[in-house]
Amino acid sequence: MEQQNIVLSGVRPTGDLHLGNYFGALRNFVRLQDTHVCYFFIADLHSLTTHPAPEDLNRNVRHVMALYLAAGIDPEKSTLYIQSDVPEISELYLLLNMIAYVGEVERTTTFKDKVRLHPGNINIGLLSYPVLMASDILIHRSHKVPVGKDQEQHLELARVYARRFNNTYKCTVFPEPEAFNFDTTLVKVPGLNGTGKMSKSEGNGIFLTDSPEEILKKVMKAVTDKGPVECNQTPPEPIQNLFAIMKLVSAPDTLAYFKGQYAQCAIRYGDLKKQLAEDINLFIAPIRERFDDIFRNDDLLRKVAATGRDKARASASATLREVRKAIGLTV
Ligand code: TRP
Repeated sequence: MEQQNIVLSGVRPTGDLHLGNYFGALRNFVRLQDTHVCYFFIADLHSLTTHPAPEDLNRNVRHVMALYLAAGIDPEKSTLYIQSDVPEISELYLLLNMIAYVGEVERTTTFKDKVRLHPGNINIGLLSYPVLMASDILIHRSHKVPVGKDQEQHLELARVYARRFNNTYKCTVFPEPEAFNFDTTLVKVPGLNGTGKMSKSEGNGIFLTDSPEEILKKVMKAVTDKGPVECNQTPPEPIQNLFAIMKLVSAPDTLAYFKGQYAQCAIRYGDLKKQLAEDINLFIAPIRERFDDIFRNDDLLRKVAATGRDKARASASATLREVRKAIGLTV
């Protein structure tokens, strides 16, 4: 175990996860379980900013939890919990709100984007979203937070609040959390629409629960071009993207074969796509099958959530005791 070894990551319960989520995050979480103290949670409170229907929210929380388990998160090794099961986070959120300035949260790009896109729903929870996220992180005095680029500003604020709290109350309760970079080169999983990365909002993704038919349909529709015009030319982005996905899911020989065909101007995109769809399916089939079993097993999901909650609350309440003491909230 490393010294600075507390890792924490949260995911909003937006339903399905795609291959990009798997290769960019989940797969690495699974590996981290053996070297770090890991906290993984489902950020259901964060999702309330958009007022989801209760049955959708509930279903999506169970869905993500089942997917995490299916992908290899082991509740014996990690603490896997649901954010709203740990009331200490909400209490810390209230306390951190007192040292968070309106100006600094108003300046975050995520908030400004929301103001632009949804001017009719600029609620206070949205404004203080970074404060809740800081509470998630600081409640376990986490050292490392694996986050994507879009969350870096939020993480920076968590660092600001950790520092400010320690300074204001002349204490050392919080370490400053750092962004965690995996040793392996960061894999970018492209989408199937020719450009950009796989993302839920772009609708260009393959979900971990997609059926073989859905996978085939999506891959066959992937953007290509008329084909190479000269030998050994560099493929354009849409074709490179298909090769990039193939590299993640197919055997090295398969990738080499199709790259060779491309270089010789002999490639048939239909064959490439059929092979890619088959290999994606082989890759996700075990996850999908485990998911199907777990998602139906309410008892198991409840048990996992309860175990995670108890472990998370033990750590959270220890932090909160220190926080209250530092502020002078104890007699
Ligand atoms: N805001 C993150 C996202 O939208 C989810 C999240 C909530 C999170 N709390 C967190 C991520 C704490 C890392 C640490 O993806």
